Amino acid sequence: MSSKLIAPSVLAADFANLQRDIEMINASDADWFHIDIMDGVFVPNISFGMPVLRDITKHASKPIDVHLMIVDPDRYIQTFEDLGANILTVHYEACTHLHRTLQAIKNAGMKAGVALNPHTPITLLEDVIRDIDLVCVMSVNPGFGGQKFIENTYDKVAALKTLITKKEAATLIEIDGGVTSKNASQLIEKGADVLVAGSYVFKAEDPVSTIKNLKTQIS
Ligand code: DX5
Ligand code: ZN
Repeated sequence: MSSKLIAPSVLAADFANLQRDIEMINASDADWFHIDIMDGVFVPNISFGMPVLRDITKHASKPIDVHLMIVDPDRYIQTFEDLGANILTVHYEACTHLHRTLQAIKNAGMKAGVALNPHTPITLLEDVIRDIDLVCVMSVNPGFGGQKFIENTYDKVAALKTLITKKEAATLIEIDGGVTSKNASQLIEKGADVLVAGSYVFKAEDPVSTIKNLKTQIS
C-alpha cells in the first residue's frame, strides 16, 4: 500500500508572506502543494492566476497539484504545464468532452485529475476511471476555504474506492474541503490517498507540527 499524502492548499496562505509560507511547506512533512485556481464563473470567487502561480512554482520544491475551478479548462492546459503544474485537475461539471480533456492533459506531460462537486455521483466516472490519475472528491462546495465538511463524502469515497478496485484502475483519491484531524482517519479508512488541507494547516498556531501530526495520524 502506498503512503498517504498531505497537500496543503495555498489558498489559505498569507499572500503578503507567500514566499515564507511556501518555504514553510517545503520544510514540512507535506507532500504536494495544492493550488486553487478560480475564475469567478465556474465558482462564485476569484483566487489568483498565472503570475502568482509562476512565483509559487519558483520557490516550491514539491509537486504542484493544480485544481482548476474554471469553465472550459482546455484553453489553459498548455499554460499550466508551462507554469510548472505536475497534476492538473479539471471539474467534471466544466467539461463537455472529458475524455478528450484528460488525453490533452496527459499529452502535455502532466497527471490528469477530475474533481467532482458534492452533488455529482461517482457512477458518472465509470467509463473513464482508467484514464484518470486522480479523482478529487469535493467535500465542500468549491469556491471558498474554511467551509464545513460534508458528511456524505465518506460514502462517496467508499463508492469510488470500489469502482477503482473493480476496474483495476491506478487512480488516487483526493479529498478537498474541510479536512481536519477529526475526519482524516475515517477518510483514509474509506480509501482516500491524498488529503488537501487549507485553513486547518495555515490558520494553525504551528503549521509545521499540524502537518506532521496529520501525516503521522494517516500513515
Ligand atoms: C475549495 C478549494 C479547497 C480549499 C480547501 O474550493 O478547492 O482546496 O482551499 O480549504 P479548507 O481546507 O480550508 O476547506
Ligand atoms: Zn482545491
